[in-house]
Amino acid sequence: MTKIEKIVLSYSGGLDTSIILKWLQETYGCEVVTFTADLGQGEELEPVRAKAEMSGVKDIRIVDLREEFVRDFVFPMLRANALYEGQYLLGSSIARPLIAKHLVGIAREVSADAVAHGATGKGNDQLRFELAVNALDPSIKVIAPWRQWNIRSRMQLLEYAEKHHIPVPSDKCGEAPFSIDANLLHTSTEGKILENPAEVAPDHVYQRTVDPIDAPDTPEIITIGFERGDLVSVNGKAMTPAALLTELNGLGGRHGVGRLDLVENRFIGMKSRGIYETPGGTILLTAHRGIESITLDRAAAHLKDEIMPRYAELIYNGFWFAPEREMLQALIDHSQAFVSGEVTLRLYKGSASVISRASACSLYSADLVTFEESAITFDHHDAEGFIRLNGLRLRSLAARNGR
Ligand code: ARG
Repeated sequence: MTKIEKIVLSYSGGLDTSIILKWLQETYGCEVVTFTADLGQGEELEPVRAKAEMSGVKDIRIVDLREEFVRDFVFPMLRANALYEGQYLLGSSIARPLIAKHLVGIAREVSADAVAHGATGKGNDQLRFELAVNALDPSIKVIAPWRQWNIRSRMQLLEYAEKHHIPVPSDKCGEAPFSIDANLLHTSTEGKILENPAEVAPDHVYQRTVDPIDAPDTPEIITIGFERGDLVSVNGKAMTPAALLTELNGLGGRHGVGRLDLVENRFIGMKSRGIYETPGGTILLTAHRGIESITLDRAAAHLKDEIMPRYAELIYNGFWFAPEREMLQALIDHSQAFVSGEVTLRLYKGSASVISRASACSLYSADLVTFEESAITFDHHDAEGFIRLNGLRLRSLAARNGR
């Protein structure tokens, strides 16, 4: 085993990373610095400090990354209307490169030669962490205990915890918790009963959205402001990016917006089933499409839609810091120059629907499209010629095929 002098561990204070901390200290016999990012997971982070202290950690970093997360990662991604496999808003995928960036930053600052993470060998997250480290500083080694130690299952993990007197958290029902990843964009829940896709997810897996059946019977109307493709206000109130997304999460959560029960294809090769809750993100995606509908040119909008699956797949697979993602980002950002204005939505029993949109940069012309008489001259004969030429090949084909 190569000698490691100092390790920066991505540490949540949860069961897995508490065990990893112990294991790293024992296995490498070196200093471990812990890094805990506040990404708006909605948990108190001060207890994390106490836990790390109790484990003998001297250098404990707890950093509030909420604004950077939303401003530099979530917003750029949402400009693309990114969805993986048509449905997943990439809430975990987009957080990893940010965490990796700070792991690398701290490693450089404290002259650590390695970083460590708690992602397993079966998931996507290991790729996202490690591809990011590869891109940002290839001289830093990555330690992934889940791929190295002899612990092979969650059962064995619990046994290890018991042996080392590491407290095991339990969920609302007193059972070992699901595998949960939460931040300002989403909550992802995997494992246990959810591993059988034929089983209906029990109610208690949902954390930040009410069941649409129990949502208020009266709809709520909200207005969302955009500037150059980014969210800038909710109900006329300008706030910071993280505050805006927090506000939308509250509104969406109350109306049961943004639940998703999905079987997806992991990059590593297997299918997995997860429950996602993305209330604010779902509202934002719908609203963004609404403002784009009046401000984007047709060909520009369609080109965006063509590259979107590719862009989403890059983020899902962990290539945030790759040149092809940055190239697509430049194209997407360029398209947003006039994507400004306001969208009004109705939140009602699990749905967020656009009910009106307005923009000073609108391309929409009522005069042009109207069924009534209008001042704009539109020569209907042009349409006749347009159809004749577009139909030319179809007429040739029909004649040959004897239709
Ligand atoms: N499957 C999702 C993804 O690859 C979520 C992964 C993390 N979630 C979790 N519950 N551990 O982005």
